[in-house]
Amino acid sequence: MSKLEHHGTYTPTTGVGKWVDARMPLPRLMYDSFVAYPVPRNLNYAYTFGGILSIFLVIQILTGVVLAMHYVPSADEAFDSVEHIMRDVNSGWLLRYMHQNGAHFFFLAVYLHIFRGLYYGSYKAPRELLWILGCIIYLLMMATAFMGYVLPWGQMSFWGATVITGFFTAFPVVGEPIQQLLLGGYAVGDPTLNRFFSLHYLLPFMIAGVVILHVWALHVTGQTNPTGIEVKSKTDTVPFTPYATIKDAFALVVFLALYAYFVFYMPNFLGHADNYIPADPMVTPAHIVPEWYFLPFYAILRAITFDIGPITSKLGGVIAMFGAVAILFVVPWLDTSKVRSAVYRPWYKLFFWLFVINAIFLGWLGSQPAEGVYVALAQFGTAFYFAFFLIVMPLLGLIEKPRRTPNSITEAVLDRSSKGSGAPQVGAATAAPDDRA
Ligand code: HEM
Repeated sequence: MSKLEHHGTYTPTTGVGKWVDARMPLPRLMYDSFVAYPVPRNLNYAYTFGGILSIFLVIQILTGVVLAMHYVPSADEAFDSVEHIMRDVNSGWLLRYMHQNGAHFFFLAVYLHIFRGLYYGSYKAPRELLWILGCIIYLLMMATAFMGYVLPWGQMSFWGATVITGFFTAFPVVGEPIQQLLLGGYAVGDPTLNRFFSLHYLLPFMIAGVVILHVWALHVTGQTNPTGIEVKSKTDTVPFTPYATIKDAFALVVFLALYAYFVFYMPNFLGHADNYIPADPMVTPAHIVPEWYFLPFYAILRAITFDIGPITSKLGGVIAMFGAVAILFVVPWLDTSKVRSAVYRPWYKLFFWLFVINAIFLGWLGSQPAEGVYVALAQFGTAFYFAFFLIVMPLLGLIEKPRRTPNSITEAVLDRSSKGSGAPQVGAATAAPDDRA
């Protein structure tokens, strides 16, 4: 029996269903992928963020398309057109706040999704390509969010765009042409706004395309699970519907409730007040800070305050910042451990949580001025960030003694439930799913 054998087969019952199935079996594909599809029986709530992300992508596209009907991408009118959306367009305020806060929650979900992957070793063979497709999505999300932030044409939009596009000038020879290509001129202005709007509209659809590839790759390898042990028999799995669907739906409702709280009660909490001031090329804000989801990278950028040989501090900072994202792509080859899940890796688990704390710490440092002790702390945080990937991941796999892993997912599940209920341990590898008392 194939380990990914489905729990049921699609049998069209109506005439129309049979007719479609013989010509383009899309309903069959959907049934096989989202109804009968076997998922490990021990998935926890950390595995619900992929579904949540899919819904947020839809929310962002739907609200964005309607906002674009009223938005004017011109330096003279952009700011006013956003105010017009907020005041005059029917439910315009809701659309805008949903879109704006949706971006924050999209990033929150993606970070939880990535951390889940790092904790359970989801990136390990045979899921390397699935992970890389995720990294591509993440890059596209960052580009989309950056360009979207420029569109309201407030002070932070303008100066954020000026700072970020300015990074490229750090690269010798190609830097300035790249910057001018992005700006459509020598400074942030009307052409910049136009191309950013065009790309901000395009990229989410590219993300949607890559998400389809991501989920395709997922369905080839199957999901991991908290034990990190591959599915070995049908008893290790349950059908996606109703088990995963109901769990995903519950997690989604909780996440949406939190999102709604922000949209309705504190819609500007995560934004920056300066972006309610129209862009003014003559007035530089006291502090130019990106949105929270970019802050750790911003701290890494500003941590490099020294030249390294021919590499100037500015170029060094830009390389470190891009490197901090690029390193994610090679994670599957940096981790040398034979054991997949952190559950059985005591040292990796410790370093993982230190990594999470360090990422949050870097985020906080990114919001502080780049001076004095903050710079020294950011240098320490940056060193730890890279050491986690380049030293801890490769070395721990070689020297760490992992805990004993169960023989199968079913054994792990029955072992836990028997401990919980005080029942005697079951010879679980052969037990059927319904044997659970
Ligand atoms: C729009 C953004 C994204 C969407 C809609 C999405 C969607 C999904 C879905 C539906 C799943 C299966 C359910 C789950 O495990 O949560 C999944 C799994 C996975 N995703 Fe994503 N994802 C996104 C971004 C990312 C990113 C940025 C990464 C990594 C850099 C990533 C890496 C993975 C991996 C490795 C798995 C397999 C997990 C496992 O089986 O252990 N995804 N994704």
